[in-house]
Amino acid sequence: MLSDRFGRSIDYLRVSVTDRCDLRCTYCMPKDFKDFEDPPDWLSFDELERVIATFARLGTRRVRLTGGEPLMRRHLPQLASRLSALPGLQDLSLSTNATQLARHAGALKAAGISRINVSLDSLDRDCMARITGRDSLPQILAGLQAAKEVGFAPIKINMVAMRGVNDQEIDAMVEFCIEHAFVLRLIEVMPMGATGKDASYLGLDTVQRHLREKFGLVPQALELGGGPARYLATPDGRSSIGFITPMSQHFCATCNRVRLAVDGTLYLCLGQEEKFELRPLLRGGASDAELEQAIRDAIELKPQQHDFGRQPEKIIRFMSQTGG
Ligand code: GTP
Ligand code: 5AD
Ligand code: SF4
Repeated sequence: MLSDRFGRSIDYLRVSVTDRCDLRCTYCMPKDFKDFEDPPDWLSFDELERVIATFARLGTRRVRLTGGEPLMRRHLPQLASRLSALPGLQDLSLSTNATQLARHAGALKAAGISRINVSLDSLDRDCMARITGRDSLPQILAGLQAAKEVGFAPIKINMVAMRGVNDQEIDAMVEFCIEHAFVLRLIEVMPMGATGKDASYLGLDTVQRHLREKFGLVPQALELGGGPARYLATPDGRSSIGFITPMSQHFCATCNRVRLAVDGTLYLCLGQEEKFELRPLLRGGASDAELEQAIRDAIELKPQQHDFGRQPEKIIRFMSQTGG
């Protein structure tokens, strides 16, 4: 098992399989973003499988595929099949914007993806177009429907809550998720790249109070996934709502994860710059034992907590580059 200097077990690897995306969510990637990685620098499926198998030997139990938009990586279900067959991995999940999910849902299910999280910030078509930079809502809803039909359950909906942008729609999103048996997670926007902490930042404490009152939500002890969300449930216990509060109440003390970017950079924290380059080892003939040792050394670099609050301008990479 990997454990860091602060005694935290690291058993969750988030893997960004591409930094490209067909959307341009304001909090993730600016409209004119061009600073993409060079495809020759992307880890191949063989390289990704090798790194992830090494993590699995070191005790990693959960892997989440992210991006950019992971479905922009060609033949993603083939990679998923290879990963879901790796000994030791218990949970292979996917975070997607769902624009192409209608086409791929069946293949992803067959490939062994066990859980899907979908980004959806609004149910209003114009509002979604403003947030994502494209008229994306109809495709996303079709993707969600397809995922439901092939049997993904529960599907989680990620809604980044933004003051004056989509905060008026939180109640409607709660009702939509209850109706469709989706697990809604509300997320505080994190300042990444030039997206900075701005006027749209909305702390979730008041939202949580409002939802507790309006929907009679009660605390839920159940663990739902491997992530940082804290959950409340409806009084009948059938629906859950998660709150992801990196800014107002961070969860770094129980952090269990690191991130692999598409170019083989291992980021030790979403909100800090510590990193370790694995690509030179992979392409330089390192043995399995050397790769294992490099990963152990890299975990030593994991910082205690993120730095978003104290130095908001510090993180210069964008969310699409690190993979959420
Ligand atoms: P589950 O296993 O389903 O709980 O997944 P998850 O919530 O970890 O994954 P998802 O990709 O859906 O991420 C939801 C939100 O949580 C995104 O906004 C992520 O950026 C954020 N998030 C996930 N892990 C971390 C983390 O380690 N630190 C911070 N600050 N935010 C995180
Ligand atoms: N702050 C918070 N969440 C973000 N995501 C992307 N960028 C940010 C940000 N700056 C979320 C997306 C997606 C998840 C993987 O990360 O909504 O659902
Ligand atoms: Fe694309 Fe996801 Fe970033 Fe939006 S949040 S631009 S859907 S990678």
